[in-house]
Amino acid sequence: MSTDIRDANREAWNVGRYETWVRAMGDPTAEAVRVVGDPKHVLRRLLAHLGEVADRRICSVQGSHGRIAVALALLGAEATVIDFAEENRRYALALAEAAGVHIRYEIADVMEAGALDLPPFHTLLLELGVLHYHQDLVAFFRVMASLCSPGGRLVLNEFHPVERKLFHDFGDAPRDYFSTGLVVGDVPNPVIGGASLGTCAYRFWTLAEVVSALLGAGFRLTALDEHPDWTNPAIPGTYTLVAAHS
Ligand SMILES: C[S@@+](CC[C@H](N)C(=O)[O-])C[C@H]1O[C@@H](n2cnc3c(N)ncnc32)[C@H](O)[C@@H]1O
Repeated sequence: MSTDIRDANREAWNVGRYETWVRAMGDPTAEAVRVVGDPKHVLRRLLAHLGEVADRRICSVQGSHGRIAVALALLGAEATVIDFAEENRRYALALAEAAGVHIRYEIADVMEAGALDLPPFHTLLLELGVLHYHQDLVAFFRVMASLCSPGGRLVLNEFHPVERKLFHDFGDAPRDYFSTGLVVGDVPNPVIGGASLGTCAYRFWTLAEVVSALLGAGFRLTALDEHPDWTNPAIPGTYTLVAAHS
């Protein structure tokens, strides 16, 4: 990926991000009460695909505010987050402390995660809004393969390209399933009606591009499910893919 785009995306992810999570979820102490109360609810879309969680080394790739990692740690996993936004780490570590668990949080461009010298993970978890930050998907899945232990598993729960490319409102961006251009759009702001926190450049991938890149990096596809969109159940909104590392 161009480092200019990476740096601009990282800057957008750091603008007011800690305060944004506080406004959206509550301060880490309040959110921890909810996560500790029902960690399985936090993981409800993912648990069936993760297999064993307790005592497994699980990486929440680009795991943001850390709710997923903290819920995994509460279920006994050795949870690590790799993400490039310091403001996300601040919220995640405060959340983990308030929840009474330890998570490891590495600040890095995930494409450079090899330099972190992490022990191999049993499971890599990629969740809702990961792939479109990357412009070379084969290289991205090669990095994932390098982080995964032999026989390990990758679980990808991602926005569906039909929704992102054909239905989602990104202003003037063409509604073209096969478009390969970058789309500039607001960095996610979960505060309803909240002001723009800046923009990111996104590359949305077709389902065939995702599967081909995954296979090309040496993973074996074991499951692929498509799920109805939350607001328009007539179209696919998300999908879940499970792959094994050989
Ligand atoms: C929409 S969030 C993913 C959702 C997240 N799994 C969660 O817990 O809600 C996207 C995340 O990717 C991170 N990110 C984007 N590009 C990255 C990169 N090249 N390396 C590391 N993190 C990146 C952002 O900081 C952000 O936290």
